[in-house]
Amino acid sequence: MIYLDYAAGAPLDPGVADRVAHVMALGLGNPSSLHARGRRARDLIDEARETLANALGVDFAEVLFTSGGTEADNLAILGCMGAAPAGRDGLVVSAIEHHAVLGAADEAERRGFRVRRVAPGADGRVEPEAVVQALDGRVTLVSVMHANNETGAVMDVPATAAAAHHAGALCHTDAVQSFGCLPFLPARMGCDLASVSSHKIGGPPGVGGLYIRRGVRLHPVLHGGSQERGVRPGTEALHLIVGFGEAVRLAMDRREADAVLAHACAGRFEAAVRGGLPDVQRNGCAGRSRPGIVNLRFGGLDGAAVVISLDMAGVAASTGAACSAGSPEPSHVLLAMGLDEDEARASVRFSFGRGVTEEQADQAASIVVEQVRRMRRGV
Ligand SMILES: Cc1ncc(COP(=O)(O)O)c(C=O)c1O
Repeated sequence: MIYLDYAAGAPLDPGVADRVAHVMALGLGNPSSLHARGRRARDLIDEARETLANALGVDFAEVLFTSGGTEADNLAILGCMGAAPAGRDGLVVSAIEHHAVLGAADEAERRGFRVRRVAPGADGRVEPEAVVQALDGRVTLVSVMHANNETGAVMDVPATAAAAHHAGALCHTDAVQSFGCLPFLPARMGCDLASVSSHKIGGPPGVGGLYIRRGVRLHPVLHGGSQERGVRPGTEALHLIVGFGEAVRLAMDRREADAVLAHACAGRFEAAVRGGLPDVQRNGCAGRSRPGIVNLRFGGLDGAAVVISLDMAGVAASTGAACSAGSPEPSHVLLAMGLDEDEARASVRFSFGRGVTEEQADQAASIVVEQVRRMRRGV
């Protein structure tokens, strides 16, 4: 099986798996306990927090752990809305955000906030000028992702953050797809909040992080104890947090080499597929894009059927966001870019990461060409 679905989830790195198993076998206590086992657990969490904070270029106290990217996005958006000053009842999000952001924005709307959704251009990018058009003195938060999970398009986060600040709003970015792949330093980019996730970088699923700039106030979404400074209560998942820390360490060591290889593999793959199937279109463009994501449109075919036949032929890909893969709805990202429903349904995302070789990229391309030709012949 050639795995080309890294944007849905990178395989657990073997070094991370060992570390998770080791920590679980230690049988440590609750990190909030005062005894030695509790203190040892707390030290391990602190170590992971230090690693994540260093990778993001922020202070130790500005990072908290969550159950993943989804929770980090929800906490950023609903937490900001909950703490919004009177008269600041506006939220601006892009129309191509992951459902974790869009769902939280829908919830904010149900709670009485005014939500504006900014459309991307045909290239899949949300331009800062379009965000400016949506801003007014009532907006509390702007949330625009760093790299899109379906097309790889990279947004100009520094200019978006500057526009948000100019209007007196905060800026959040969902960096789940860029962290560990592109340089990502939220404080230097001007972000007030940023979400990251472990399972996109070879760590275990079920853990992520939120950067909260010092001084930004969030109303908790969950209510309970004082863990994570009371903003995210609940006993910490020690083994997952330690595994995430290890995955961050590895990702920072290998980021450039991984990105160069993912870019090379994706480029060869796309060239070979389009060489064999000249009518295939790429959704979004390769420039200003996160390395390793190629979204292709196989006109006249159903993307889900292509994914199933590729799976049977030994290539794992997906029709778009993993969380929506079972949904009959065409991708909201591709529709927002101006594709019609048939075009959006004919699209398949191939995503590359650490461990995919150039030989595998070539082999996968031949399988795609063969399967698509076979499907078009109706056999
Ligand atoms: C851009 C983006 N944001 C958020 C998420 C959700 O992260 P998690 O799966 O850790 O909840 C994903 C996962 O696919 C994603 O791609």
